[in-house]
Amino acid sequence: MSYENKYVSVVIPAAGMGKRMKSTINKQYIILKDKPVLAHTIERFDKCQYIDEIVLVVREDEIDYCRENIVKKYNFQKIKSIVAGGKERQDSVYNGLFAVNDKCQIVLVHDGARPFVTEKNIVDGIEGVIKHKACVIGVPVKDTIKVIDQSNSIIDTPNRSTLWSVQTPQCFEYDILLKAYEKAKQESYTATDDSMLVENLGYKVKMIMGSYKNIKLTTPEDLEFGLVILKEVK
Ligand code: CTP
Ligand code: MG
Repeated sequence: MSYENKYVSVVIPAAGMGKRMKSTINKQYIILKDKPVLAHTIERFDKCQYIDEIVLVVREDEIDYCRENIVKKYNFQKIKSIVAGGKERQDSVYNGLFAVNDKCQIVLVHDGARPFVTEKNIVDGIEGVIKHKACVIGVPVKDTIKVIDQSNSIIDTPNRSTLWSVQTPQCFEYDILLKAYEKAKQESYTATDDSMLVENLGYKVKMIMGSYKNIKLTTPEDLEFGLVILKEVK
């Protein structure tokens, strides 16, 4: 079932190396309690009634592994395709954008390594696109943030009340995100999230309150936090 008759696709980039996790296997396939991280992430979207399809982006040499050990094993229903990623996250998402259904109107981009996203985060993101065309989920920063130079000297302290940490899903009208990615490609413009590319296209992107539990599993201690979060996140 679509949301207000909009066809909603999710692109899940999961083609990184997970270097900071320092694990022998790609962090997406580490077992968290009962199943691999990536299976937790996919489950959140597979179960959400407003999501029409899921496009997975994984490393080329992991496509078969992912199909067998994640998609088939956990019997996910909405996986439209599994495509090969690229060198950077931006390259991976770009590949995923070409694999969505022609009917796609709203696209959510969600990190494979962010398995604690809730139904509310997903629905808030979709509603955000209907209202604002482009939005991202995030949370106000708790720490004071410092800008430093190369010798670690502090050169600026931005006003904390204006600072948010951005998470995923990052949510857009499909045509806008595709245009943003194509412009970036033409300009060789690189960014660390999807929103930056849409900002670079001249669109206003809305920040929507997410959840402090929607963490990205990045370094080893995140797996410990993750086990605690998993007990509570519905
Ligand atoms: N990602 C991707 N393709 C890449 C790089 C990253 O699809 N070339 C994905 C990751 O798999 C992850 C998400 O983008 O789900 C967020 O990236 P990050 O947490 O940085 O994951 P990695 O790049 O795998 O980790 P690291 O930077 O520590 O190597
Ligand atoms: Mg990375």
